[in-house]
Amino acid sequence: MASATDARYGHRDVSDQNFDYMFKLLIIGNSSVGKTSFLFRYADDTFTSAFVSTVGIDFKVKTVYRNDKRVKLQIWDTAGQERYRTITTAYYRGAMGFILMYDITNEESYNAVQDWATQIKTYSWDNAQVILVGNKCDMDDERVIALEKGKHLSDQLGFEFFEVSAKENIHVKQVFERLVDIICDKMSESVDSESAMGGGGKTIRFTDSVPPIQQKCSC
Ligand code: GTP
Ligand code: MG
Repeated sequence: MASATDARYGHRDVSDQNFDYMFKLLIIGNSSVGKTSFLFRYADDTFTSAFVSTVGIDFKVKTVYRNDKRVKLQIWDTAGQERYRTITTAYYRGAMGFILMYDITNEESYNAVQDWATQIKTYSWDNAQVILVGNKCDMDDERVIALEKGKHLSDQLGFEFFEVSAKENIHVKQVFERLVDIICDKMSESVDSESAMGGGGKTIRFTDSVPPIQQKCSC
């Protein structure tokens, strides 16, 4: 059943009508922080300690149920390596949510968070929602970034924050559920302000499609 909200915020995928909304999410952050591992843990419940650095960009699809709605998540896993930056930033504009990841055992990845946040500001919609995530919290012995430092940075940036472990499956599902919830909240806020302003309010528009760069679906 199509609605005005669908038309504004969601994609109706002709090949799969079995959802109410489609949200595009992006996982970004330095190479080796664990973006691919985090996605595989969430989508397939698998983990491997081998490091196979992502080439360009890839995605997986997962459907979740929130507030009686079927939400199809198209989750894009970006390469952290600098040389792929032009390809990956081309996808920012289509995303409603970002998971910005650093590694709690790698100071450089934490120091790069500000730059990644600037990239989001530069290339994405104003209303895109962001969660800051410190991965590898199972490696407490090798921790160099205290939990408080992560919290402090997220407060400064205005993002929500979680420490997670793709390896031990800590807070993985929670991050995605929270991101879906804050996107939904933003959507209803926007609909409310639009109706309060007689349809002339500032709204988020999630109708643009991602650029047609060749990629293979790994789902
Ligand atoms: P790029 O694709 O190069 O951007 O890297 P990535 O961020 O996708 O990193 P990836 O998921 O490939 O993980 C890098 C390495 O960290 C791999 O050897 C993983 O096994 C390991 N790793 C990922 N998550 C965790 C975690 O939560 N705990 C531990 N101990 N290791 C992890
Ligand atoms: Mg990767």
